[in-house]
Formats: sequence, structure tokens, C-alpha cells
Amino acid sequence: MNRRSPAKQIEHILSVLNGRSIVLIGLMGAGKTTVGRRIAQRLELPFADADNEIEKAADKTIPELFEDYGEQHFRDGERRVIARLLRSGQQVIATGGGAYMNAETRRNIREAAIAVWLRADLDLLMKRVRRRSHRPLLKTPDPESVMKRLMAERYPVYAEADVTVDSRDVAHNVVVSDVIDALANLDTTSKCTT
Ligand code: S3P
Repeated sequence: MNRRSPAKQIEHILSVLNGRSIVLIGLMGAGKTTVGRRIAQRLELPFADADNEIEKAADKTIPELFEDYGEQHFRDGERRVIARLLRSGQQVIATGGGAYMNAETRRNIREAAIAVWLRADLDLLMKRVRRRSHRPLLKTPDPESVMKRLMAERYPVYAEADVTVDSRDVAHNVVVSDVIDALANLDTTSKCTT
């Protein structure tokens, strides 16, 4: 339970960050972009969506990048774009679901940011991703089994994040407040799970 006023919470978070960025990680459908954008608004920090930045840099959509050059090419671009964002001043960065699986990206994030994992269960992720069909990894006859496999592979790695917040089936603003509370409970050394 956090008893500070909202203004004091923000002040505390900015002092703990001490110039570092916040990086949202988690699976497709966890809400990284929406939640990240709103956290940035609350902290009055710039916001960047890494997938968007990759698309801008390549002048192609992510489905086009996968289609034209393959996943590995996309991953190389993803690693470079996130490294660049992390060198570009304090901000809130939403990453694509696979970004944190890269060891160099994890190291860069550890050095320049606080990582926040938006953890979600299978039902919520599937409910969210079913609404949109642009994700190359889920364009298969059985997206649910892909999602299960990705959860098994990635959740142990996502667990390295500094902060873990459950992305529940509630309004995004509730999750935003949960993230703010979790960040406000952070001291400079500890991990935090809500
Ligand atoms: C991916 C997630 C996507 C996007 C790409 C690959 C992944 O981003 O980067 O389709 O490997 O999980 P979102 O997590 O924002 O959907």
C-alpha cells in the first residue's frame, strides 16, 4: 500500500529513476503500448514505441519486414533501435514481445533503465490479440499454442525485470496505477512484484 500523494509518488519515482528510462516488456497483448504511453503522460516523460520506431527506420511495417527479410533481420533492427532509444535520454519505451529475449538488449536495458514486466495470463492475451491480426508470429492455424510456447520460453526471462505487474482484464488506467504504485515502492536496489 502506498500512502504518498500522487505528486509525491511521481517525485519519488523520478528520483529513483535518476535519469534512467522505463522499459515495458511482456507478451503480445499485455498492453505495453497503451500502458506505457499513459505512464509517460503521468510522469511527464517522452514516450517511444520500439515497434513503431523500427517501422519508421525501415519504412516498412513489421509484417512486411518479416515477409521480405525474415525474423532474424527484424530482430537485428529491433536490437539496434532499442539500443538507440536507450541512448536518447530519459523516456518510457514500450518494446515488442521478443525484444527482451536478446541478451544484449537485456544488458542495455539493465544499464540505462528500469524494466517493467506486464505479466498476463493466457486467456487475457488471447482475448486481446484476437482483436487484431497484424502479428506475424500469430498468423498460424493455432495461435493459442504459439502463445503457450512463448509464455513457457519467455516468462522465465521476463522475470529478470526489476518490476512485475499483473496486467489484468480491467481498464488500462487501473494497470497504469498499479505500475505507478509498484514504481513508487521501489528503492534503488530492490525488485518489486505486485
Ligand atoms: C513480437 C511482438 C510484436 C512485434 C513482432 C514480434 C514477439 O510486438 O515486435 O510482431 O516476438 O513477441 P507486440 O508485443 O507489441 O505485439
